[in-house]
Amino acid sequence: GLSPQVCWLAPEQTAGKQKPYMYTQGQAILNRSFFPGFDTPSVKCTYSATVQVPEGFTAVMSASSWEKQKDNTFVFKMSQPIPSYLIALAVGDIVSADIGPRQVALEDTQIRVWAEPCLIEAAKKEYDGVIEEFLAVGEKLFGPYVWGRYDILFMPPSFPFGGMENPCLTFVTPCLLAGDRSLADVIIHEISHSWFGNLVTNATWGEFWLNEGFTMYAQRRISTEVYGSAYTCLEAATGRALLRQHMDNTGEDHLLNKLRVVIEPGLWGVNPDDTYNETPYEKGYCFVSYLAHLVGDQNKFDAFLQAYVNRFKFQSITADEALGFFLEYFTELKEKGVDSIPGLEFDRWLNTPGWPPYLPDLSPGEQLMKPADELAELWAADSLSMEAIEAMDITAWRTYQLVYFLDKILQKSPLPEGSVERLSKMYPKISKAQNAELRLRWCQIVIKNNLEAEYSKVKDFLQSQGKQKYTLPLYRAMWGGSEAARALAMDTFSATAPQLHVNVQNYVKKILGLEVAE
Ligand code: BES
Ligand code: ZN
Repeated sequence: GLSPQVCWLAPEQTAGKQKPYMYTQGQAILNRSFFPGFDTPSVKCTYSATVQVPEGFTAVMSASSWEKQKDNTFVFKMSQPIPSYLIALAVGDIVSADIGPRQVALEDTQIRVWAEPCLIEAAKKEYDGVIEEFLAVGEKLFGPYVWGRYDILFMPPSFPFGGMENPCLTFVTPCLLAGDRSLADVIIHEISHSWFGNLVTNATWGEFWLNEGFTMYAQRRISTEVYGSAYTCLEAATGRALLRQHMDNTGEDHLLNKLRVVIEPGLWGVNPDDTYNETPYEKGYCFVSYLAHLVGDQNKFDAFLQAYVNRFKFQSITADEALGFFLEYFTELKEKGVDSIPGLEFDRWLNTPGWPPYLPDLSPGEQLMKPADELAELWAADSLSMEAIEAMDITAWRTYQLVYFLDKILQKSPLPEGSVERLSKMYPKISKAQNAELRLRWCQIVIKNNLEAEYSKVKDFLQSQGKQKYTLPLYRAMWGGSEAARALAMDTFSATAPQLHVNVQNYVKKILGLEVAE
């Protein structure tokens, strides 16, 4: 369907290809076309909904309770106040499976995955027994999980995001079904929104970083507790590489590269849909890390985060309120004037575009990054020393180590003639990977090195899923590449456009210089 807010999918656009599907995506300002209401993140309310669907379909919503009544009618109630953008509905051939109990809940609540029947086994296998720990660690760090149930809905392949934190029911891309739980960081991210974003909400979309920057920080705190600091720093380093790529693409001084953006119609303002880029995430993460660095004690900063959630839960706030609370909480820091240290002023963090003035120390990840750095050096050399290359065994590398390695290769690309072909042959684990994060990087490398023999992989990948963060970088790379790469872009877009979310379609059209209908 053509509307961005209520997406109507034909059977061919689903995983099972048997029945149609519909879903809504509210963030940022799309729900005003779904139902009448105050469509601003500064207003919160409870809601209930009655949804009747045809025989053979199931409706799910971001609600704390639901009930199926007669005549295929589903009744939903969200008992906690939420901003309008978090109301979400999906209807399709959707089934569920239990993946383990919540341990702290008073009643016995099951955590569930929901998906089309053809994906449900894989969904259950991927996350059976692993979600409770993320929630329990989140509660330990940030306070009670107030939303009751926690379920995950695996969306059709064209879902434009990695995940969407709809309360009680996270929506995720089916790309997360990697078979080895390697992409669980997306789930941890969406769970982290249960405190940052869904409980304490940015009052305006101009301060979207309050949602995403705090959530990135919370995600990495949970990840550190569950997987350790080495792994988490490695993941954060890949995030930093994304921020670097983004700023290189847009120019550091771009008006989107500050944490506080001016949302307004017209030439100088920004549409909130367009603020979805790496800056609120990774620069926001750096700012929150900087606040933690000012405090200098992880336990104290964790306690602050918990107090922050408790102080502002069920409210919508501005960055000034958040930072004001920080300075009140740590009075000694306020007296020291930490908000106006030259070069690191809070005002500069918020209002000056560009690279973060402080970067958290990621050296605990060194042990995982160093071998990847070394191997990338070897492959980028003018004459390959195959002996040294073969001496490095990557079979036990984690997915994010390979991701990190591929980002380095991409930065160094184009490699000398013939090297990428050899790399491709040497590591089928990479060049034939099914994991979406690896496929994205491999496709970027194929384009940057103009490896026409593997162009079909780019098209296949773009045909298999429609995530915005995968789709746009590849089209940008193709459009900036050779004649053949540009032809590949046009050919791929004409084959896949109807499957893409209409917002993503429009962004691609802009990249390709095609007309965008307003
Ligand atoms: N809330 C976002 C997705 C979003 C942002 C939708 C802006 C619409 C407008 C979600 O929590 C998110 O950040 N998803 C990331 C996950 C990643 C950072 C682990 C994504 O989709 O890539
Ligand atoms: Zn998020």
